[in-house]
Amino acid sequence: MLEREIGSEFEPVSDAFIGRPTSPPWVHDSEPAYLSAGRQALTAVARKLAADGWTSLYMPLHHCRTMAVPFERCGMRIEYVDVDESMIMSAGALESTIDRLGVAPVLHSETFGARTPPALEKILNSIEQSGTPVIADETHSILQSRPSSFTYRIASLRKLLPLPDGAYVFGLDYMQPDREQGGLSEVVGLRLTAAEQKAAYLRGDRNDKAFLDIYARAENILDEFSDILPMSRQSEVLLASLDYESLSRRRESNATYLAAGLDDISSIRIVNREAVTTAPPYLVVSSDRVLELRTHLTAQGVYCPIHWPPPKESELRRRWKSPVLSMPIDHRYNHRDMQRIIDLIVEFERGRRVSR
Ligand SMILES: Cc1ncc(COP(=O)(O)O)c(C=O)c1O
Repeated sequence: MLEREIGSEFEPVSDAFIGRPTSPPWVHDSEPAYLSAGRQALTAVARKLAADGWTSLYMPLHHCRTMAVPFERCGMRIEYVDVDESMIMSAGALESTIDRLGVAPVLHSETFGARTPPALEKILNSIEQSGTPVIADETHSILQSRPSSFTYRIASLRKLLPLPDGAYVFGLDYMQPDREQGGLSEVVGLRLTAAEQKAAYLRGDRNDKAFLDIYARAENILDEFSDILPMSRQSEVLLASLDYESLSRRRESNATYLAAGLDDISSIRIVNREAVTTAPPYLVVSSDRVLELRTHLTAQGVYCPIHWPPPKESELRRRWKSPVLSMPIDHRYNHRDMQRIIDLIVEFERGRRVSR
């Protein structure tokens, strides 16, 4: 029997994860503005920083291009700060950047679900106390329910929840954009269609993978789009009905199982081990042959993204750490799927021992 494919974009969420309406874990004492995509939330913050006269920004070296573009478009100069082994901005590197260049706003990313390490938090707090804004990108930590005092908080919701669009921004007196406009309807329509087609493919009701092109078309439109739009009504309805506790429990259970299985493989290092019990977005691993491992998994229908590919600039490429692989552990999967990933990695490791 062919095994079902694992990973890649979300198909529609199953009823098992629809619950009684609850407040989402990122809402504590105030409501955010809900926008269509994470880049729009970052654009809203970047415009505010530029309007307030800020001209430069510090952000982690390990980042996705989409996070930098909104600030570049506002004419800000970006200084990339080195990261530690878990890919979080290093406190020491931030301190020496400040010593060299002075204080500037910081975009801090809770990449791979990491909690902000105390030493980094201390520096970020003192930056804020000096009147300089700190922005937290919570895209990878949206299910961790804990208050945060950073000046601005943003997240892309559409990346790690089964939504056609969605993002939030806290901290701006940003008018809630006109909801009647209803999101970027072309992108929302394409992503809903693609998700349905993917579900039909996984059920065996379709043979073609046309959904891949449809997802890509939606991303292309979003890449070209620079306006800020509200999240769609479709996502608003879904957000109000998702069972966040069940989503978190499933992620933690899968990540724990997968991490335990990979611990026996000496060539694999778990990059976000600390996040395993706090609803991580993926289980992220490094190894000396990540790219070959990825090819092996892809050939067996297990799709693991690389977050993120190195940028084009040679200076940043030189400082970039080796690639890491993000293993899917979300609500769509169970221990059987995790065991399959473990078995495939063991098979890969055996193969390479034989070929040495
Ligand atoms: C950490 C992080 N922040 C922001 C974004 C931008 O989100 P969106 O693609 O919804 O614009 C992404 C997208 O990949 C991301 O990974």
